[in-house]
Amino acid sequence: MSSSNDRKRGNTDLEDLERLAEEIAGCTHCDLHLSRTHVVSGEGPAPAAVMFIGEAPGKKEDELGRPFVGRAGSILTALLAGAGIQRDQVFITSVVKCRPPGNRDPKREEISACKPFLFRQIGLVRPRVIVPMGRFATSVMMDFFEIPFTSFSSVRRREFPVSFQGSTLCIVPVYHPAVITHNPTRRGDLEDDFSYLKEVLQRTGCNDE
Ligand code: URA
Repeated sequence: MSSSNDRKRGNTDLEDLERLAEEIAGCTHCDLHLSRTHVVSGEGPAPAAVMFIGEAPGKKEDELGRPFVGRAGSILTALLAGAGIQRDQVFITSVVKCRPPGNRDPKREEISACKPFLFRQIGLVRPRVIVPMGRFATSVMMDFFEIPFTSFSSVRRREFPVSFQGSTLCIVPVYHPAVITHNPTRRGDLEDDFSYLKEVLQRTGCNDE
């Protein structure tokens, strides 16, 4: 049960998150602002027990200003439902908040410009579990928390407890939902990742609030 102090802090975090979203919406720190239609800062409540992090918005996300609303988004929504997670109860964002033209990989300078926003979001959302989806978001998280790793496959579907602003949170890397749009044979692996995640969230009491 949450105390009135927790609720007050929750309201403040949400307001701060909305202010941060306005700041992100006006960002001109890298050249991606020249080609974007909308900034996609992310969506979800604060606090939220679980935070999902993708790579960068695609065409549909750029059009609508919302994360994971295109093909990868439909897959993510189905995976969340299968894992017993309500999409509107988790925070969903990406490392880079503006669409790279033609969906190319984000450049190093674009990542450096955007990364501070992500970590400010984490500070306000205060998740207990962070789920980086795919090798790109995973490597950003592993670098930040100085967790040595040799490859995405060596850390995928494992739990990494870290300390952030005085709290412990757990990083659980999984495949990016778009993996099956490129390689349909990975569907079983992706579903296994979300079954594993369901088990982690049940064990840590993160999906019964
Ligand atoms: N892929 C991402 O990584 N983020 C989105 O918002 C959409 C697709």
